[in-house]
Amino acid sequence: MLAHDCGKFLSKKRQSIGRAGSFQRPQPRRNSEILDQATLKVIKNMSLEPTSITESNEIPLKLDRPLVLVGLMGAGKSCVGRRLAESLDLPFVDSDGEVETAAGCEVRDIFEVYGEPAFRDCERRVIQRLLDGGPSIIATGGGAFIDPQTREAVKAHGVSLWLRADPEVLYQRTKRSRTRPLLNNEDPLATLTNLAEQRYPIYAEADITIDTGNEGLEMTLQKAMQALKQHAEKENQL
Ligand code: S3P
Repeated sequence: MLAHDCGKFLSKKRQSIGRAGSFQRPQPRRNSEILDQATLKVIKNMSLEPTSITESNEIPLKLDRPLVLVGLMGAGKSCVGRRLAESLDLPFVDSDGEVETAAGCEVRDIFEVYGEPAFRDCERRVIQRLLDGGPSIIATGGGAFIDPQTREAVKAHGVSLWLRADPEVLYQRTKRSRTRPLLNNEDPLATLTNLAEQRYPIYAEADITIDTGNEGLEMTLQKAMQALKQHAEKENQL
């Protein structure tokens, strides 16, 4: 019913949705990247054990539950999530994208036509379904973890990772976007600052927190992988 009504309300142009998450598996190594036996023998004769090629002491990180990225708008949940999914060879899903697919219209239109409570209701049900789907990387909308029921579901069925950043950094990253209804006002920096005050104590309940500033994506990824490994080690010790 939601999809039908929304469809009526919107112009065709705004019904086109491009946010649903996609996931590409890493390409297999090319032949040129694999050393043949003769080359390996030469390396051995040079007393250089080719450990990095044939064996590795590192235990690969294996998630047994979904990893749920939380944090304010502009924290990088989708960008970081996509890259983590590639590294961990897991599917990536964006909860806002899934809500849009389910509703048949964009998040801002759901807010406009039905209001925020209807969006939260849809978001809650979508995230519950994603949590039931086995290991994956889930990027959630900024308000998802603030909803008590969604938060409980994430705590029960997933591992949560908060990407923490200053409101000023978030403002710089989101200021050109028009897709976030909560920031479509005269003072989005003030909105982000207020949301940070209200929400940061709640995001702090996440299993893992990493700080992200103006650093690049690669640095954030490294921090996230490191934090995930530490979390997995801690859990194994319990
Ligand atoms: C929201 C964040 C948005 C989207 C909706 C509401 C929020 O997602 O779910 O506009 O309440 O913070 P992003 O955090 O991906 O921008």
